[in-house]
Amino acid sequence: MNSFSSVFGFLKPYRGKMFGSFLLLIASSLMILLQPRITQWAIDFGIPSGNISHIIGYAFAIIISAILSLVVNYSSGVLLIQASQYMSYDLRNALFKRISTFSFKDFDKWRTGELIVRTNSDVNTVRMFIRMGFFMLIQSVLMLAGSLASMFMINTSMAWIMAIIMPSIVVLFFIIAKFIRPIFMKVRQALDQVNNTLQENLVGAKLVRAFSRQQEEQRKFESKNSDYYKISKKVSMLVGVMMPLLMMLGNLAVVVVLYSGGSQVADPTIQMSLGSLVAFSNYTMTAFFPLIMLGMILSFLAMAMASVKRINEILLTEPAIKDPENPLILDSLEGSIEFDHVSHRYGEGEPVLKDLTLSIDPGERLGIIGTTGSGKSSMVHLIPRFYDTASGTVKIDGHDVRDLSLDTLRGRITVALQDTQLFSGTLAYNIRFGNPDATDEQIRQAAQIACASEFIDELEDGYDHKIGERGQGLSGGQRQRLAIARAVLSDPDILILDDVTSALDTATESDIVSNLYKESRKRTTIIISQKINTIKRADRILILDQGEIVSTGTHAELLRSCKIYQDIFETQNPAAK
Ligand SMILES: Nc1ncnc2c1ncn2[C@@H]1O[C@H](COP(=O)(O)OP(=O)(O)O)[C@@H](O)[C@H]1O
Ligand SMILES: [Mg+2]
Repeated sequence: MNSFSSVFGFLKPYRGKMFGSFLLLIASSLMILLQPRITQWAIDFGIPSGNISHIIGYAFAIIISAILSLVVNYSSGVLLIQASQYMSYDLRNALFKRISTFSFKDFDKWRTGELIVRTNSDVNTVRMFIRMGFFMLIQSVLMLAGSLASMFMINTSMAWIMAIIMPSIVVLFFIIAKFIRPIFMKVRQALDQVNNTLQENLVGAKLVRAFSRQQEEQRKFESKNSDYYKISKKVSMLVGVMMPLLMMLGNLAVVVVLYSGGSQVADPTIQMSLGSLVAFSNYTMTAFFPLIMLGMILSFLAMAMASVKRINEILLTEPAIKDPENPLILDSLEGSIEFDHVSHRYGEGEPVLKDLTLSIDPGERLGIIGTTGSGKSSMVHLIPRFYDTASGTVKIDGHDVRDLSLDTLRGRITVALQDTQLFSGTLAYNIRFGNPDATDEQIRQAAQIACASEFIDELEDGYDHKIGERGQGLSGGQRQRLAIARAVLSDPDILILDDVTSALDTATESDIVSNLYKESRKRTTIIISQKINTIKRADRILILDQGEIVSTGTHAELLRSCKIYQDIFETQNPAAK
């Protein structure tokens, strides 16, 4: 139960509360166990004496012990609630922290919906288990043990009968629980599916409408939802059958007690009082109740175990890409990049980059052009080590990127990603993401370079203008300009723009590129585009096709010598023919 311990290790800081709760639970169980005893005394001593005040005294004792046990029980619960809440808070933070270390490759593996379910519902299941399951488990064990011990104290021979009947019921339970556990796993998986489908549909809501796929998606969701419903129903039915079964077994046990005990009370040679018989049958019930609870706890436990396993999968995921043992930390980079026989593939798929060899000088302005899927993004993602190469090395300033610290790589190299990611918040907030310490003036400058100031200045609230989740309320071109501004603001030594001018008109695009090239600061700049216009002023242009470098050269050179480049140029500039 290795995985169990690692999640429950999060309880360690709260072991004081857990222990306090445990002590209170023992006290309350003792008080509950005392009650049948007081009843016994009331019957054996109080009633025969005929002394009313005596009998009232016993009744009072029962009431007081009941109230006390309630209060103590409640306090124990409060401590547990606190411990479970603090623990789930820590656990959620730990999960978030771990997910923050995930590399692109890890995100390829995990679905967003899954990660959300695990940080939310699974953590909640564990919290509920600690809050209720743990409580019930300890109390059940205490009550069971206490009841059995009391039975032995009252009548050994009858207690032996019970001592044999009860464990057989526990064994029966374990057998049932074994069957139930996989079903609980399935409930979880079915819920995951529902969540995933929901998530995908919400994220792709517009796409679904654009392609009029609502009905099909609706059907898909309904089918997942009904799977979930069916399997949940099966579980409730199982639980529903178990309860009455147990009650029946409990009542049968009482019948056995009354039968064998009754004959003993009637037999003058055996010393068994009526009060002891009543107490004994009460203990039979107090022993059976925990057994019923144990059944619930076991299914609860199975559910919590499933959640723990899933939480641990995240906690124990070593990020695919992490700092080397002794990372090389550099304050700044010269900016040379070298691809040395680099090949790359995703998972077990076909190679998407094939034996690339290329060296880029510090301060060089490189343009990369190629069709969709030619490997442009894959190639630049290797530079800040978003992925590791399948073979070959990528070097920066002569150092293998795998020897450099991730902070150096990510801090000194900025990639404006192809799918522009914006957050809900103000425009300033979104740009400042590139450099949290930037002044308003720096933000304005960056926006100017990215030609974003043009539209921002026209807004009534300017940089304080609020945008929605994922940049709602902005056009594609506006989003791309914000992404460029953000990248520029981070002031990297290597700046990579991955096709982030696709939604812009030719004039704006040219302006942005001029602004970038005009900047006095020396930096290596890589601009990816599918349009020659964007990259034609680069020092060198690289044509990528199916993961291979087809040709390199300046715009003029390629126009002269490269057939593919000529073709692209002609389709994009029909007038120049
Ligand atoms: N995360 C990924 N997982 C699996 N395959 C991918 C992933 N990213 C890109 N690919 C595949 O790699 C190939 C190159 O893609 P990409 O580098 O995005 O090309 P480009 O940027 O030139 O359009 C494509 O076949 C694409 O489907
Ligand atoms: Mg791309």
